[in-house]
Amino acid sequence: MSALKLAVIIGSVRDGRFGPVVASWFTEQARQHGAFEVDVIDLADAQLPLELPAVPPALDPDPERPAGMADLSARLAAADAFVIVTPDYNRSVPAALKAAIDWHFTQWDAKAIGFVGYSGASGGLLAIEHLRQIFNELNAHTIRNYVTFPRYYLLFDAEGQLREPDEPAEAARALLDQLHWWTAALVAARALPAPA
Ligand SMILES: Cc1cc2nc3c(=O)[nH]c(=O)nc-3n(C[C@H](O)[C@H](O)[C@H](O)COP(=O)(O)O)c2cc1C
Repeated sequence: MSALKLAVIIGSVRDGRFGPVVASWFTEQARQHGAFEVDVIDLADAQLPLELPAVPPALDPDPERPAGMADLSARLAAADAFVIVTPDYNRSVPAALKAAIDWHFTQWDAKAIGFVGYSGASGGLLAIEHLRQIFNELNAHTIRNYVTFPRYYLLFDAEGQLREPDEPAEAARALLDQLHWWTAALVAARALPAPA
C-alpha cells in the first residue's frame, strides 16, 4: 500500500490566530510518527463564501465551486484521513471551518478524522464534540482519541514551544496510532461496494 495521506487542517482564519502554532506542533508529531504522508491545509488560503450552492450535497455532491476553493477541494479529495486543529468559538466550530465542511461532501465520505483542540477553559472540546455530530452526517468516522490544550497560553511559551511537551506528545502518538488503524481499515473498506 502506498503511504496513507493525512491532511492537517488549520480551522481558524482570523488575524493573529494561534491555530498555526498548534498545527505546527501536531504536524511535527505526525512527521516523527512516520505512518502518514502529511499535508497541511490552511483554510485562510481558501475562498470560503457562506452562500452555499442552491442544491443540497446529497443531490449534487460535486457542485461548481469558487475558483479560490479549487486547491482546497483537490487536497481534501486526495487525503485518506484528516486531523482538524480547532479552537472553540462560542462553544462551537469556527465559521470558516464549518463553511469548508459544508462546501464538500464526497471528500469526507468514509474517511477517518481526528482532532486537536485548544482554547480558553474548554480547550477546543466543545467544537470537537460538535464536529463529531457534523461528520457523522457526512459518513466520516471520528476517532476517539484527541489532544486538547485548555488555556493554551499557559502551555506554550512565546516561541510557540510547549513548556511540558511529554504528555501532549504521548497523546498525539496515541491519536496517530488509532487514526492509522482506522485509516487503513477505511481505505480497504472504500474499495468495497457501498451499501445503497
Ligand atoms: C469569536 C470567539 C469566540 C470564542 N469562544 C470561546 C469559547 O467558547 N470557549 C473558549 O474557551 N474560548 C473561546 N474563545 C477564545 C479562543 O479559544 C482563543 O481566542 C483562541 O486563540 C482562538 O483560536 P485562534 O487564535 O486560532 O483564532 C473565543 C474566541 C473568539 C474569537
